[in-house]
Amino acid sequence: MKTLTISGGGTIPALGLGTWKSPKGEVAAAVSEALRLGYRHIDCAPIYMNEEEVGSALEAAVKGKGVKREELWVTSKLWNNAHAGKHVRPALEKSLRDLRLDYLDLFLIHWPVHFQPGVLFPRKPEEYLAWEAIDLGETWQAMEALVEKGLCRYIGVCNFSLQRLRELQKVATIAPAVNQIEMHPYLPQLEMLEACRTSNIVLTAYSPLGSSDRPAGMKKADEPPLLSHPLIVSIAAKQGISPAQTLLAWALARGTLVIPKSVNPGRLRENLAAAEIVLGEADVTAINQLESGYRFVDGAFFASPGSPYSLSHLWGEN
Ligand code: A2P
Repeated sequence: MKTLTISGGGTIPALGLGTWKSPKGEVAAAVSEALRLGYRHIDCAPIYMNEEEVGSALEAAVKGKGVKREELWVTSKLWNNAHAGKHVRPALEKSLRDLRLDYLDLFLIHWPVHFQPGVLFPRKPEEYLAWEAIDLGETWQAMEALVEKGLCRYIGVCNFSLQRLRELQKVATIAPAVNQIEMHPYLPQLEMLEACRTSNIVLTAYSPLGSSDRPAGMKKADEPPLLSHPLIVSIAAKQGISPAQTLLAWALARGTLVIPKSVNPGRLRENLAAAEIVLGEADVTAINQLESGYRFVDGAFFASPGSPYSLSHLWGEN
């Protein structure tokens, strides 16, 4: 498996298994099958509501001696209701209990958005906290303390724009190792890619296949298809690979991590095999032309009327 070097020196398997939207009742079998096939990087989060089940599969694999813990890379995330310094460690410890692990490899701030403690998803504006209400330095220091205590190896963020990253860099003693963001040919994030290359931050591409299984409320009627885009389909046919493999090989060719989700054994295998595919320069360049700025996960769910958050807070002015 191709790996990327992370700031601080470790290596991370470049292709991991996403578990967002993987249903309870299916996710344990998917993780077990993925580990059997050779996946060694599993991306999790408590808000996916399935960490306990992921944990049962991880424990079975490690106890069954199929996989050594130190060969695994497990990421989890800090939910938006636990950004106050005192809530960070208990949140990580809950994920550790559910995942049945002693430590995480990577712990990420999931969104640059604060909720009131205990609120899973706000239904009223009062259930949010304004961005200024919690100092980012307070959250990050609590994240840094987790590294110092050996509870996680690396820390990072998700969904941080360049502006949010700069805010973080001003207060960080331990630099963020990773920014996990939506990336695919419609949203190649070229400016972010260049900035993170310079700052030694690894980018992880989520929704690399367009996340067509996300809830209806998160979808727009006129969504552009990704897996069936004629260019992707024609490059796939020319190379004798699948459209999904084309998208994943494109992500890897750009030097990013990629975490496709699947609960289907055939597609798990197909996606893992993409880590061995090298897409030529001409195909990468052709696919780059698909840039349109389209986001499948646009964050509008945090910008409902009365919310202190806007899309420009999330993504910047562009
Ligand atoms: P399934 O879990 O049934 O395989 P993303 O990673 O962008 O969130 O996309 C996940 C969606 O893509 C899920 O609906 C998943 O379905 C589907 N998917 C995963 N792998 C493939 C593949 N190789 N070909 C087609 N669809 C795939």
